Amino acid sequence: MRWFVFFGFLLVWVSLCVCVDRSNFKTCEQSGFCKRHRKFATAQDAAEADGANQYQVDPASIATDDNGLSAALVDAATGKRLSLRLARVATVTGRTFRLKINEFADEAKRPRFEPAPGDSLVADVAEAPVAIDNKQLDGNLYVLEAKDGAKSDAAKAKAVLQLKPFRVDCLLNDRPLISVNSKSRLMWEFHQQKPDDSADNSDGLYDEEFKGHRDAKPHGSSSVGMDVAFPGFEHVYGIPEHADSLALRSTAGGEPYRLYNLDVFEYELNNPMALYGSVPLVYAHSANNTAGAFWHNPSETWVDVQSSKSSGGGLSALLTSFVKSASPSEALTETHWMSESGVIDLFLLLSDTPLGAFRQYASLTGTTPLPPIFSIAYHQCRWNYNDETDVLEVDRNFDENDIPYDVIWLDIEHTDGKRYFTWDSNKFPNPQGMLDKLNAKGRQLVTVVDPHIKRDDNWALYQRVRDGDIAVKSHKDDGLYDGWCWPGSSVWPDFIDPAVRKWWANEFKDYVAAYTWNDMGEPSVFNGPEVTMHKDAKHHNGWEHREVHNLYGALVHQASWDGQLVKSPQRRPFVLTRAFFAGSQRTAAVWTGDNAANWDHLKASVPMVLSLSITGITFSGADVGGFFGNTDPELLVRWYQAGSLQPFFRAHAHLDTRRREPWLLDAQYKEAIRSAILLRYTLLPYLYTQFYLSARDGRPVMAPLWVYYPKDEATFSMDDQHLLGPDLLFKPVTEAGATSLSVYLPKDSIWYRHDTWEGFGGGQTVSLSVSLTTMSLFYRAGGIVARRDRPRRSSAAMRRDPITLVVLLGGRDRRASGHLYLDDGYSLEHKTSSAYLHCRFNYADGSLTNTLVHSSPAYADADRIKVERLIFVGVRTRPKSVVLPDGGVGEFTYTEQSRLLVIRRPNLPVAKAWTVRLMDASASGHDEL
Ligand code: NOJ
Repeated sequence: MRWFVFFGFLLVWVSLCVCVDRSNFKTCEQSGFCKRHRKFATAQDAAEADGANQYQVDPASIATDDNGLSAALVDAATGKRLSLRLARVATVTGRTFRLKINEFADEAKRPRFEPAPGDSLVADVAEAPVAIDNKQLDGNLYVLEAKDGAKSDAAKAKAVLQLKPFRVDCLLNDRPLISVNSKSRLMWEFHQQKPDDSADNSDGLYDEEFKGHRDAKPHGSSSVGMDVAFPGFEHVYGIPEHADSLALRSTAGGEPYRLYNLDVFEYELNNPMALYGSVPLVYAHSANNTAGAFWHNPSETWVDVQSSKSSGGGLSALLTSFVKSASPSEALTETHWMSESGVIDLFLLLSDTPLGAFRQYASLTGTTPLPPIFSIAYHQCRWNYNDETDVLEVDRNFDENDIPYDVIWLDIEHTDGKRYFTWDSNKFPNPQGMLDKLNAKGRQLVTVVDPHIKRDDNWALYQRVRDGDIAVKSHKDDGLYDGWCWPGSSVWPDFIDPAVRKWWANEFKDYVAAYTWNDMGEPSVFNGPEVTMHKDAKHHNGWEHREVHNLYGALVHQASWDGQLVKSPQRRPFVLTRAFFAGSQRTAAVWTGDNAANWDHLKASVPMVLSLSITGITFSGADVGGFFGNTDPELLVRWYQAGSLQPFFRAHAHLDTRRREPWLLDAQYKEAIRSAILLRYTLLPYLYTQFYLSARDGRPVMAPLWVYYPKDEATFSMDDQHLLGPDLLFKPVTEAGATSLSVYLPKDSIWYRHDTWEGFGGGQTVSLSVSLTTMSLFYRAGGIVARRDRPRRSSAAMRRDPITLVVLLGGRDRRASGHLYLDDGYSLEHKTSSAYLHCRFNYADGSLTNTLVHSSPAYADADRIKVERLIFVGVRTRPKSVVLPDGGVGEFTYTEQSRLLVIRRPNLPVAKAWTVRLMDASASGHDEL
């Protein structure tokens, strides 16, 4: 009977999924707290002048200290009090403030959930010193000014607390960048049970129902909300995950952006509906500044956005008493944040540039550690590779077709009846043997491990969950929370509990598999409200699921990451997740879930991955080919081309789709796919270096153009092309039958096409004619890009291959520079014994030099790696000769028409400092290119 019900349900569910059924997911109007906050906002706007319902800081309660101040916030209407802390945070630039609002512990009916240090924030977020002044406006203002001794940068950052009405403004160089609660939308619902049956519950204050699911709300509502405005900014970005444009749209009159991790099959595009993951971080950017607001709250959150070019100067006018340089622009973006529970923990990031703001966010939530190199190569996945024969056949076919790949993936069907950590012994009689065969070719295996556990009393792992204090509990009877997922009736380990995470990590010890794919971590519960867990389900320490929802999946992949370290302590872990939260970048790569095999979804993959990239989720990508539905060969080629230049590059397809491995296509399509994959492999040294740099300071690997061209306003709404690091620019073809493509090249730069080396000046849109194999990839003049040009079967086979350096010259100064990072590609020795090589190449005045930023005998392979070719692009005249470091003369060819100079076999060791000189024919001996 149980199975009958389950399959019946599955059938309905699958048929619902032909395209998303919006009615399965709440609108703001159907979500009690969202509705109440919006209503409150409207009322506040109307009452703005009379100051009703406004919070005020009680002057007598203020206690200042070295890093900030603490005080009581009082609701003028009800007299209720909240505790407030405003302090500076010790991020790398020192230009970050933190505003925290909570209830006083001794006054609260129930404590409010906050993620533990190390869950979303890094473990050691500390405060930093400020100077405090409150002489202005009769003591109604407290000015916190960064105080950092020699760090003059930080000294230009200020936070200004206005007591009555409560408001906080953040300024950089006396220019206001962020204004908090300037619209008095701070709203705080104190836990309370329904007083009696007659109490008005029309807006779902005490309990709620959605599509037959009752949320008992045993503690009543506890939502929080506030407005955050960005004076001087018209463009805001962030708050993934949404299938929408990169620049956020105005939500006035429509739905707010929703952050609530949900399993949405075949999601709709151009829509603020919630998807699988959430990062509650917004960046505002203008030609002058970048500002960020990180709303550190893991419960369901809705965000309204409204931007205008001209605000009439309203916000800064309030502060003119001490604002010396008002915003250079009248633009204004207002955001309104509404969370179902928890505290207000708001980080305010002030920066001149996007990269400066990203560094601050990286100080708070960490960066993506350098991934093993195989994981930034090409991945082959499908639901499912049927058995061992199938796996080995696919593997062999890559070799036979001379197509490199690094990783093959196994989806849920490889398990024994969807019992994760097990294998179906008929299909995979010898998993270790299969793994060894793949490894012998330098290839890897990833298996799926979902967080739902099949209820099977005969299965030892389930028994451990059932009998240990491990699973999430039902609010009704404190029994195990039961729901439906792939295995049928299932339970969910309570990853909020650190002991459970430890238990999970240990389950990896004896698991025969290598790397991990965590799917369904939203968590996906097929028969739950909105396909997820009931909000009143109970977690560790009595927390309700509503309080931790968006964090759950992040703690699943964090525990899996730890599991890989338990199993193989010397190896860099690799985990892919669909559900994520702020900080997920530290322990997982992310993919954008169940997209569809159509052109619109291909197009949408670019803004979606960009939005992840700028909010810290550096290592991300979309299913190449489109997960859902069959793809036609042209679309597949274009998708491979797009995916080959996104950080995470994996083909994947739904169970019901036709097989689409590249060799199944006609020759022209297969060849086009092969060359896109090969291009990815040649660029691995450059990409790996970008990942290394990103691990150090949080810069995105894939970036919107405005990140590196912050003053070029033409790029602010652009999300159909992108940069990879500073030196590569790419626009994928996303139209069927395209024969031409327009590409915008940013101002004050010069670019060369990767295939013809034709040069173009920036600040213009160029039109290219395109064939099926065309990839509109450009190299930046001023960059030096390291490649490995010998085709191999996998990245492991390239480990000691020689390097080609492409030196791009152009513009007036004719200088170029670039980095190269190399290590063994898989171990942790780059961390534990600094076993890596970091070279910095510089070209100026005819000399190309290699300077070793770091080298170590512990990375032994470095001595075997040579530069086998130097390609100089944009060389104006043929040099008279090329002088190698040993004084010998280099062998070269020069093509005047394409201005290309190629020096063959210079035989330069990467691990040694050297200089190569290009000698000009001119009498002065001065090199002029
Ligand atoms: C949903 C995931 O998004 C998809 O990638 C996967 O193939 C299926 N679950 C089956 O595991």
